[in-house]
Amino acid sequence: MSKPMQGRHFITTQEWADHEIEMLLETSSDLKRKFYRDEPHALLRDKTLFMMFYEQSTRTRNSFEAGMTQLGGHAHDLTPDKLQVSHGETAEDTARVLSRMGHGISIRNCNWGQGNKFIRSVAEMSTKPVLNMQCDLYHPCQAVADLMTIREKFMNEVRGRKIVVSWTYAPSYVRPISVPHSEILLMSRFGLDVTLAHPPEFKLKPEIMAQAEANAKKSGTKFEVVDDMDAAFEGAHVVYPKSWGCLVHEPDREAAVQHIEKYPDWICNEERMALADPNAIYMHPLPASRGAEVTDAVIDGPQSVVWDEAENRLHTAKALMALTM
Ligand code: CP
Repeated sequence: MSKPMQGRHFITTQEWADHEIEMLLETSSDLKRKFYRDEPHALLRDKTLFMMFYEQSTRTRNSFEAGMTQLGGHAHDLTPDKLQVSHGETAEDTARVLSRMGHGISIRNCNWGQGNKFIRSVAEMSTKPVLNMQCDLYHPCQAVADLMTIREKFMNEVRGRKIVVSWTYAPSYVRPISVPHSEILLMSRFGLDVTLAHPPEFKLKPEIMAQAEANAKKSGTKFEVVDDMDAAFEGAHVVYPKSWGCLVHEPDREAAVQHIEKYPDWICNEERMALADPNAIYMHPLPASRGAEVTDAVIDGPQSVVWDEAENRLHTAKALMALTM
């Protein structure tokens, strides 16, 4: 079988062409059908993936590990304390070694200002594909699973539909901004009109905003930014409310947490859902902070598609590995 994407790194969707993203989505749907029909699909028999997690994960860890098993291979669940990176071995040397021993390296490292650099350093020296399982800037695997879910829910008719990527309140800690970054980048490319909503302190990175604007211009979609959650929800077909930190505005984490406390009313509740299109879907990458980001009535309600969205993380992770490894 010809594998034109074999060996490709996947660090941001921006570095894959439209037809490559389409191939990824088509393969995801194909593997989903095979999973449901219990058809064999051991496309990575005897292959090894090294997964490196700097942070906790439920969906990403299990989609990649279960995915490798279902594809006939094996995934090593690694954390820094299991590796000599904790004693200062460089990203580059780690890449040289692991890429000699297996067929792919996947990494989650959300350390602000470091995660994406670490992944790119590994990719520079790895002879095998390096897959971004979330960094400080991007969560491309989440965005691809989300696009698959939106297409499924709207029977592939997504052009001109409005997606709201909205900041929400969530207490305690500063969450990464990689999900909103990847959502605005991918959805603006694939037919959706994007409305980004956030309080003034929760801006995204200017260079990523510029890329999203360029994507929208090129693909004939709309991209707007508002600071009012109610206005954003008006007429939306997809609502994607989640919390993120304001490290672009305030790099000090303790000070950043204080800004969150100013906006407890930024929650996705039934009143706000009523402002959206009657057939709107509610999405969240999970884990969701119930009672802060979203009410139980919404996340457990009829418009919520979060479990389908989570399941699609499996099918898209398998497609990504099958195409690149
Ligand atoms: N959405 C997501 O990436 O979930 P995990 O942090 O559990 O992997």
